[in-house]
Amino acid sequence: MPVQVTVVDHPLIAAALTRIRDETTPNTLFRQELERIGTLLLAEATASLETVVVSVKTPVTYTVGRVLKTQPVIVPILRAGLGFLNAAQNLMPGADIGFVGISRDEETFEPKPYVNKLPESLTGRTCIVIDPMLATGGSLALACSLLTDRGANTPIIVVCALAAPEGIAALEAAGIAAEIFTASLDERLNENAYIVPGLGDAGDRQFGAA
Ligand code: PRP
Ligand code: URA
Repeated sequence: MPVQVTVVDHPLIAAALTRIRDETTPNTLFRQELERIGTLLLAEATASLETVVVSVKTPVTYTVGRVLKTQPVIVPILRAGLGFLNAAQNLMPGADIGFVGISRDEETFEPKPYVNKLPESLTGRTCIVIDPMLATGGSLALACSLLTDRGANTPIIVVCALAAPEGIAALEAAGIAAEIFTASLDERLNENAYIVPGLGDAGDRQFGAA
């Protein structure tokens, strides 16, 4: 199953993205704008979730409505993925949250896992991975493997603010089944595997250098 990429073209996303790219944007505003992008991307990314029809009694009469058929599992990749978590929980208050901590080795750019706090079984569950940055694709590929190892439905839904072509190609080469929703497919990676033009280090810009 190929990797599917949807670049969500929306004026409010474009305006918020411009603000988070700006190197003078302070951390507080960066977090607010990132959350706004998350809300808008998640609305698009969840548009095909299945619903079931239910009966509802209004103050006037009975009618029918729709609710989610099953609750998804939202998986932020620590740290930067936390920037989309409020947005995801506001939209899907009944979702389960699983945590994956992965940091990139600064020399090799290889992903190093340090937290795996996921439901024991993900069989039949729709998983939504949230992480603002898809650079080499190493962190996302590892996160998706952890989910499919536990039986998660494929494709895994992925929400990121920026994606690099090299990362998408790497996911395809690794056979990762993912449906990616992003605000921008940027130009390339630089020699430090940072996204160009990018926005810098998404973790540091939210939480400070670590
Ligand atoms: C960033 C980002 C992604 C990863 C992307 O995390 O949040 O998880 O890099 O890079 P990749 O596609 O090359 O794997 P980082 O390792 O900087 O950790 P942090 O979120 O704790 O800052
Ligand atoms: N991680 C980031 O936070 N930024 C990049 O540009 C690449 C990886």
